[in-house]
Amino acid sequence: MKIIVSAPGKLMLFGEHGVVYGRPCIVTAVGQRMKATVELTEEPLFELKAPDVQVTNYKKAIEDCGVGEIPKGAKFVEVAVKNFLDKYPFGGGVKVETKSEFSSEFGFGSSSASTVCVIKALSELTGTKLSDKALFKLAYKTVLDIQGVASGFDVATAVYGGTLYYVTPGKVIEPLSIDSLPLIVGYSGVKADTVTLVNQVSKLAEKYPQVIENIYSQIEKLVEQAKVALLNKDWLTLGEIMNFNEGLLAILGVEGKKLSDMIYAARDAGAYGAKLSGAGGGDCMISLAPEESVKEVKAAITKAGGQVIDIEANVEGVRIENE
Ligand code: MEV
Repeated sequence: MKIIVSAPGKLMLFGEHGVVYGRPCIVTAVGQRMKATVELTEEPLFELKAPDVQVTNYKKAIEDCGVGEIPKGAKFVEVAVKNFLDKYPFGGGVKVETKSEFSSEFGFGSSSASTVCVIKALSELTGTKLSDKALFKLAYKTVLDIQGVASGFDVATAVYGGTLYYVTPGKVIEPLSIDSLPLIVGYSGVKADTVTLVNQVSKLAEKYPQVIENIYSQIEKLVEQAKVALLNKDWLTLGEIMNFNEGLLAILGVEGKKLSDMIYAARDAGAYGAKLSGAGGGDCMISLAPEESVKEVKAAITKAGGQVIDIEANVEGVRIENE
């Protein structure tokens, strides 16, 4: 029995960092997808091929899933299998092969997307009825088991797709009914280190608690206004909010020179606004621009050393590709 499941990548639109501390964020699912082919086997083995993250022929006894040294590229899939097995035991083994339509360097959430794919596939293959919320919970637990800190918005996006207003730990997962979002996306060429950056901001908050709380409150207000602007397709206001949000992220110290250069280049070329997307220091920046400036904005991002990535925003969540 074999199944192919896919889940979308994500881009944070507004509210990063604050979302770790209970503030809302807005995130969208992108058209580049993670695919997992999952098969139940007779031999009690866990087998994984994930060439995108340099895992070629990884094998171990299924009862040892999650135990001992796990190669970096195998962690999320292996712990996902372990967590599924702990909750919904079944006999035999599991063979997984993952293939991504996007680089794991982009910060599109490849780990969360593969975790969601594998749990969804196992639930289908074993006939375990899992609601979207139950799938989210088990996948989020997997990410937390590995990373320690994470707000889970990327897991929610992989499950539900679309564009979500999200409050951790899935307290609110509200799909925003929009039909388009003409984002311009630039990749910095640098991988953001989310855990380090979250810890860095948390240190800052220990020293300046009121200042940082205040920044989170301001970010929250921007997220609320962004929600309205998104629903109204008010790209000009959304661009302005991007600029405000970016300023607040700069105060948190997560902007980084490369992203900042790309963001300023986009603004100077006529964008309504631009900001980093995610933890900061690397990964991607996003921008919105009037139609007549899109070409110039893309060229400016490239000139600033970024790589423009064409994406479709607001796409479908996890789905079965075939059986
Ligand atoms: C990272 O993409 C976004 C952060 O808010 C961390 C998280 O929400 O898990 C910095």
